[in-house]
Amino acid sequence: MSPTLRSAEPSTFSRILAVGGVRGEYVVPNDDLVGPIDSSDEWIQRRTGIVSRRRASQGVLVQDLAEGAGRSAVEAAGVDPALIDVVIISTVSWMQPTPGMAPIVANRIGASPSAAAYDVNAGCAGYCYGIGQADGMIRSGLAKYVLVIGAEKLSDYADPTDRSISFIIGDGAGAALVGPSDVPGIGPTIWGSDGSHSDAITMTHTWLDYKNASPDEKIDWPTARQEGPSVYRWAVTEMPKMAARAIEAAGLRPEDIDVFIPHQANLRIVDGMAQKLGLRDDVVIATDIVDTGNTSGASVPLATERLLREGRAHGGQIALQFGFGAGLAYAAQVVLLPDAVGAEQTLTAADVAAAAAAAGATTDEAAE
Ligand SMILES: CC(C)(COP(=O)(O)OP(=O)(O)OC[C@H]1O[C@@H](n2cnc3c(N)ncnc32)[C@H](O)[C@@H]1OP(=O)(O)O)[C@@H](O)C(=O)NCCC(=O)NCCS
Repeated sequence: MSPTLRSAEPSTFSRILAVGGVRGEYVVPNDDLVGPIDSSDEWIQRRTGIVSRRRASQGVLVQDLAEGAGRSAVEAAGVDPALIDVVIISTVSWMQPTPGMAPIVANRIGASPSAAAYDVNAGCAGYCYGIGQADGMIRSGLAKYVLVIGAEKLSDYADPTDRSISFIIGDGAGAALVGPSDVPGIGPTIWGSDGSHSDAITMTHTWLDYKNASPDEKIDWPTARQEGPSVYRWAVTEMPKMAARAIEAAGLRPEDIDVFIPHQANLRIVDGMAQKLGLRDDVVIATDIVDTGNTSGASVPLATERLLREGRAHGGQIALQFGFGAGLAYAAQVVLLPDAVGAEQTLTAADVAAAAAAAGATTDEAAE
């Protein structure tokens, strides 16, 4: 008789146990950016809803933001970091192809020494991709605790003279610790991509173009750009259909949704989607874009953290979360909000230097 294969020990359900977040230390109002793009505070507020955005200082790197958000979520959950067996980081602003950011951050926060750790590059949909993966891993028995982080320092990719995207973007990181649950806490993920529109949100050129440019060719550091109107049209026509599918897949109706947490790309898109979906009049809608800006993969967890921390939403409510952007990629799922949320955090260069010095002292003591 041939031997029977044994599969991993599955868990019945998964849920988000806690969220945490970190924003860049500087509050940058529209008036600070309008000069080089011939714009105005009034235009930016009317077309996007953004009043100011958060940006990190040069001494704060994207991995510092990721670490801060990850620690915050894990501490709020009260789970020993050594029990985390997977760390997934959604990012488009990690500046080196290898190694990834996730193994570095997993090590820094004290995740299991054998934790699987990898980065996801799915633009502004990456965090929701990560939550879908965490749910599948936990329910199949591949993992017990998965830390999903969205971390971006998009200001490194901003050209102050670019009118298409640079005035929108901000810096920050948000995180969720996902673990086993007795009740369903994460609905089916509706996800996908449409690479036929991959040019709609992209870079001015690649790092290879930059490297291979001849000395007399003037080529700048690659920066982000987008075809704003076509992305806008795609977002308002196609994305509500995906969000509606996520509600249906979770066995719910639009009126069952208590909290709507879409990617913070543009307040007009957020409001248009809520209307198209037929959500209740009293649904709580995330509006973190107004003073954080668009933080790509970090925007959904940061908006969640903010709603819970400020008491606009609370644990046990049913939330529709939804990421969409570069790729073009998208992912939506209905989740139960967690009770636990980390404290409000900003990260300064002095904080990062002090943490590095403390880590160095601990390493020296261990070596003695
Ligand atoms: C980027 C975005 C805010 C631009 O707003 P818009 O209303 O589409 O603006 P348009 O590009 O159609 O331009 C409208 C007018 O404003 C002008 N304009 C464009 N950018 C401008 C800026 N930054 N400041 C001032 N004026 C601007 C244009 O020149 C145009 O002027 P005209 O009417 O005299 O020709 C909007 O398209 C958007 O939010 N798109 C979706 C972004 C998104 O969801 N991305 C996915 C995730 S990152």
